[in-house]
Amino acid sequence: MIAHEKFKIFIRSAEIHKMIVKMAAEIDAHYPASEELVCVGVLKGAWIFHADLVRAMKRPVTIDFIRAASYGHGTSSSGTVRIMKDIESEIKGKHVLLVEEIVDSGRTLSFIKNRLASSEAKSVKIAALLDKKERREVPCEADFLGTVVPNEFLVGYGLDWGENYRSLADIYSVPGEVLK
Ligand code: IMP
Ligand code: MG
Repeated sequence: MIAHEKFKIFIRSAEIHKMIVKMAAEIDAHYPASEELVCVGVLKGAWIFHADLVRAMKRPVTIDFIRAASYGHGTSSSGTVRIMKDIESEIKGKHVLLVEEIVDSGRTLSFIKNRLASSEAKSVKIAALLDKKERREVPCEADFLGTVVPNEFLVGYGLDWGENYRSLADIYSVPGEVLK
């Protein structure tokens, strides 16, 4: 039996794509077409969402990536955030959209957002596909959101469990007894 047969289907890829098309239209409508927008994907988890989101948008963008470590190999946040790979673009005077697949405690995104805001970006906003709102420990709100999700451990569509399952096309929840 392959491991993900023990998982419960949570959001199918067709549903994910509907959410992304809606978010992309909101983002397109929000930023003036003449102003520069840098879409910064938060590695690794957001890489698929980032690729799908920017392709669903109609306005021009530039892209960049940042990598922050908070979760390690377990299933709960370590509480500390470290930048493992910084952005490479000059963001001064530009709009920055942070693209994250899931907001949990909020520690990673609030840390990154504060850091980028201090680089004199014109604005720093957040696009998140999923939001585990009830888990928030640090204030952090997505400006563009796919959907709120309950406090379940999710894998697939970029989300990992100990670096596995990121390549699954659908999002699954891992039952508590399987997590043990
Ligand atoms: P935060 O700093 O606690 O908000 O953590 C956010 C990061 O934790 C996300 O970008 C994910 O990489 C990871 N994460 C949060 N919830 C899950 C989950 O259910 N499955 C896999 N990774 C998760
Ligand atoms: Mg992530």
